[in-house]
Amino acid sequence: MSRTAAAGRSPAGELEMTASLRDALSATGAIGATSRQLASRTLLPPDVLRTELERLASAGEVVRLGRGLWVLHDFKVLEERDDFVDPKAYVERFARENGVHVGSYRGPITFRSNEALPVHRWWPYVQGYSAEFVAGTLHRLSAGAGTTVLDPFAGSGTTLVEARRLGARAIGLELLPPAALSARVKTRFELDPGDLGEAASAVLDLGGAGPPGPLPFLRETRQQFSPRALQELRRLRAALPTGNGPADEAARLAFGRILIPSSRLRRSPCLGYGRPEARGGPSPRERFAGAIEEMREDLGTLACERPRWGPPATVLAADARAFDLPEGSVDLAVTSPPYVNGLDYVMNYKVDLAWLGYARSYADLRALRSASVACDNLPRSETAAYLASRDLPDPWLEEILSQIRSNVLRKRSYRRDDVHAVVHRYFADLTAVLRRVGRALRPGGHFLLVVGDSLLAGTYVPGDLLLARIAERLGFAIESVDVARSRRSGQRRSFELRESIVTLRRLGR
Ligand SMILES: C[S@@+](CC[C@H](N)C(=O)[O-])C[C@H]1O[C@@H](n2cnc3c(N)ncnc32)[C@H](O)[C@@H]1O
Repeated sequence: MSRTAAAGRSPAGELEMTASLRDALSATGAIGATSRQLASRTLLPPDVLRTELERLASAGEVVRLGRGLWVLHDFKVLEERDDFVDPKAYVERFARENGVHVGSYRGPITFRSNEALPVHRWWPYVQGYSAEFVAGTLHRLSAGAGTTVLDPFAGSGTTLVEARRLGARAIGLELLPPAALSARVKTRFELDPGDLGEAASAVLDLGGAGPPGPLPFLRETRQQFSPRALQELRRLRAALPTGNGPADEAARLAFGRILIPSSRLRRSPCLGYGRPEARGGPSPRERFAGAIEEMREDLGTLACERPRWGPPATVLAADARAFDLPEGSVDLAVTSPPYVNGLDYVMNYKVDLAWLGYARSYADLRALRSASVACDNLPRSETAAYLASRDLPDPWLEEILSQIRSNVLRKRSYRRDDVHAVVHRYFADLTAVLRRVGRALRPGGHFLLVVGDSLLAGTYVPGDLLLARIAERLGFAIESVDVARSRRSGQRRSFELRESIVTLRRLGR
């Protein structure tokens, strides 16, 4: 038995145990620690530790936060700490230094509002935004026939679909292959519903009789699906067309769409187990047939708008930090970049990547992650150049990165000790994107970004305001920053974050 555990049996031992627990909690500061982390730090047996935590909680000394994190009461309210700069303080600083008061936007902003809309529903993308918001923006800024609209983080293609529907030429960049597939398929308005029906019938005929294809490489595939669903999905997948024709790709998108609903997984928004075994629900074959039917129906709806369609959209598998479009060739850019707290898109879409054959190994997944805008799971080799706080794109970052670094050092066992470098690289990545879009936009052209703020390692990061400030230094005017909705921090459910629309205008003539 450890010394600390044995000590807990006598009154003096109890005091020692409480002191060691307080020390451990104090070391984790505002970030907090789980009971498992505290048990390993104090060497207390988990049940003794839990009882002690409950006792301290009822005495008001410690507080339990979302995700089972414990913090000393003093750290519960981040805003009460001397070194914590809260959202309100940044909003005031922004008004003072940049002359813009943060406003608000009323209207749908998340993808949820697209789930019942023709075409947008073909590949529900939790990370996408509202088609209604995009259509309203394009309309307000006079996008239409003869104009070019760019989305440097095209995702599932929401901007591109709405731009083409309004008659504009739409260009999108997207690195995540299943999202790029969605953007391509959804903007091919001229796809013949008859061709799609034939391609799908061939999949259903062959996939009913043929042998099941190989399992994708993901080690956990058998846990993710029931044996029956897995068998059916393997047959369907083996029967999918492999060509690049519009109907081939549309059939593959329909297959991609049914993967998560046919599994024990869900995205909310991160991928995780959470769905009880689906009993009595539609089979994968039925889901596939249903997805195809919806697509055929929506193609019919789209055909009624044919005279207004813009030219075929361009979807490039290109890096938003390094693309080259002719200078001044874009009239309007609308996008939603990844957020600074780093949802790992590759991890979140690994099932789609593996089953659709875009990734054949874990090395493929890693390579894709390294090529994308920085997220929390970036390999350390990718952040090495950002460990020192040199060449920061905005002076506010100096204070922010230094606070992240000291919070992480204080906690010692934080998930990674280079979080400040990840954040630094994120803003370096987005600076490169702002520069490229600035070059492609015509003078006077607008660039709208829907982006969130974050709470990272006990530090608040005003991602929206920082991007606006960086853009200002790169030759944009900040027209407005409007809060579209509030969100909850994943680190601390009680902490309110926001999602904003940053509207920029390219200066110059
Ligand atoms: C918030 S999502 C955009 C969603 C989109 N607005 C929609 O409605 O579907 C951000 C996208 O950026 C993509 N991305 C990340 N890094 C990228 C890069 N360097 N170049 C291009 N796309 C990238 C991600 O794969 C993700 O699809």
